[in-house]
Amino acid sequence: MSNLIECHALGFSYGDDASKTQVLDNIDFSMKPGESVAILGQSGCGKSTLLNLIAGLDTPTSGEVLISNINPCSLTENARTKLRAETFGFVYQFHHLLRDFSALDNVALPLLIRGDGKKDALQRAEQLLTKIGLEHRLQHKPGELSGGERQRVAIARALVAKPACLIADEPTGNLDAYSASEALSLLLELNKERQSSLLIVTHDLAIANKMDRILTLSNLTLK
Ligand SMILES: Nc1ncnc2c1ncn2[C@@H]1O[C@H](COP(=O)(O)OP(=O)(O)OP(=O)(O)O)[C@@H](O)[C@H]1O
Ligand SMILES: [Mg+2]
Repeated sequence: MSNLIECHALGFSYGDDASKTQVLDNIDFSMKPGESVAILGQSGCGKSTLLNLIAGLDTPTSGEVLISNINPCSLTENARTKLRAETFGFVYQFHHLLRDFSALDNVALPLLIRGDGKKDALQRAEQLLTKIGLEHRLQHKPGELSGGERQRVAIARALVAKPACLIADEPTGNLDAYSASEALSLLLELNKERQSSLLIVTHDLAIANKMDRILTLSNLTLK
């Protein structure tokens, strides 16, 4: 099976020559469809930077990232945005839900943005929220939900468009132990069911141990 993600000699630095901060250097990494991988590493070692490079939110300063054998940098901006939207869903430590929108609208949004019809988008959002036990909270805004509920909505939003890979940056860092384990079970369950990949940054070894592989980022490289 060919790789979904490949990083070849990937490097990244912030700033210009005068004040350069090298954050990643010479990283080789690949991930197959359906695989789950945890990335561990101390605060500031470059985990979020790596996720941003893989997802195409930042451009490598050396080396390259391939998505399904395509280098996104070789595409037009429109094609790159489309590839990114089809490939990745994101969950962050803080949910980043739109606070003036209901749970239902937040989850439907990725479908509406890509041009799906409103009725269909709302229906699919409702189905997914029902599946994750939030059918009684469809019209609640983020401020009217608990922390764990908000993170479940954020997970639903990341998965609603059926991306090939879910990227999660400390998705449970902000939750109590019970909500964290619920959110993680949900991520793993949906991942298995949909055969999508899961790339997760976490400080929690119990979470990391549930993934197919664990890698550690330190001294600019991934091992
Ligand atoms: N815009 C920027 N300009 C300069 N340096 C930056 C910038 N953004 C991040 N950095 C530095 O790059 C390094 C890596 O940051 P990154 O956010 O990837 O770390 P991280 O491993 O995700 O940390 P955490 O576990 O705390 O989230 C840090 O030392 C940070 O200070
Ligand atoms: Mg980070």
